[in-house]
Amino acid sequence: MSFAGILYKGYEVLLAKEIKDYPVPSHVAIIMDGNRRFASKYRLARYYGHLKGADTTEKVLDWSFDIGVKQLTVYAFSTENFERFDQEKKYLFELIGIKFDKICTDARTHRRRMRVRVLGNTDLLPPALRSSAKHAEDITKNYDGVYLNVALAYGGRQELVDAARAMALKIRNGELHIDDINEETISNNLYPSDGSIPYVDLIIRTGGDERLSNFLPWQTNGNECAAYFCAPFWPEFRRIDFLRAIRTYQTREHERQKNTVMRIVKLLSYYGKVEVEDVICISRRFIKIPKDDVINILHELINHNVVMHNTIKW
Ligand code: IPE
Ligand code: IPE
Ligand code: MG
Repeated sequence: MSFAGILYKGYEVLLAKEIKDYPVPSHVAIIMDGNRRFASKYRLARYYGHLKGADTTEKVLDWSFDIGVKQLTVYAFSTENFERFDQEKKYLFELIGIKFDKICTDARTHRRRMRVRVLGNTDLLPPALRSSAKHAEDITKNYDGVYLNVALAYGGRQELVDAARAMALKIRNGELHIDDINEETISNNLYPSDGSIPYVDLIIRTGGDERLSNFLPWQTNGNECAAYFCAPFWPEFRRIDFLRAIRTYQTREHERQKNTVMRIVKLLSYYGKVEVEDVICISRRFIKIPKDDVINILHELINHNVVMHNTIKW
C-alpha cells in the first residue's frame, strides 16, 4: 500500500471509531450522480461508468447497514432520465434488472432480512425490469430488518400528483373525508402503495452538483434533513466520503440539540436561576434523547459560556 493509501486507511478507521459515539441517521437517501463524467474522465465507454457505479451502490449497502442505518433510499432512475438515448436506457435497465436478480440470491439480503421496495411509476419500465423488481419485492416482503428503497422511474412532483389522485379517488369512493386530509394522510398516499417510506434524516449527493433533482421533496423538505454534497463521481465514492457524510449529520444533529437546550435555559432564566431537572424534563419533550445526553449538553454549554454557567442551579 502506498503512503497515501496507509494515511487514508488510518483516517477511515479513525472516522469509523468517531461516528460510533453518536446516533447514526435512521434513513439515508442518496442521489448517485456522476457515472458518465467518471467514464469520460478515464476515456471509458458510458456503460462502464454505470457498471462501476452499480458496484459502488452494492458497497454502500454494506457500509450503511453495517453501521446501523435502517432505511436506505437510492435514486436509480428519474422520470427526467427517460429523455436519455435509447441505447443508454436499455443498458441501464438491464443493469438495474441484474442487480435486482442478484439481491434475491445474495446471502446478505436474507441475513439482514432486507426488504426491497420500489418507488416510482413502474408502468413506464420495460417488462423484464418490472418483473425483476417485482420478484425482489415479493421475495423480501416479509422482511423487516432493514429496508432498501429503490427510486426507479421516480419523480418527486409526480409522486405528489399521484398521491393527490389516490386521495381524490378515495374521497369519491367514500373511503376518505376531505376534513381528514392532513400531513399523515398525504404521507400514507405516497409511494410505495403498500406503506410509504419515512422522513429522510440525511441526503447525500455525489458528483459536485448541489441540487435535489426532483428527489423526495415531501420526505426531505418538511423535516430537519441534513444534506451532504460531495465532489467525487459516484463510481469513485469511498467509505471515507460516506463516513464524512454520517459525521456531518451527527454534528448537525448535535448542534440542533444544543441550540434547543440553550433556548430552553434562556426561556426559563426569565424567572431567575434555572433548575437542571426542569431543563432536562422540558428538553426531552422536544428532543428525544436520554437524560444523560441532556446533562452532557448542559456541561458543554456551561464550559463555554459564563452566563450559562451562572444561570444553572445544579
Ligand atoms: C447518475 O450518473 C446515474 C443516473 C442518472 C442513472 P449520470 O448518468 O447522471 O452521470 P453524469 O452526471 O452525467 O456524469
Ligand atoms: C439525478 O441525476 C438522478 C439520478 C441519480 C438517478 P441526473 O444526472 O439525472 O440529474 P440532473 O439532471 O443532473 O439534475
Ligand atoms: Mg447526472
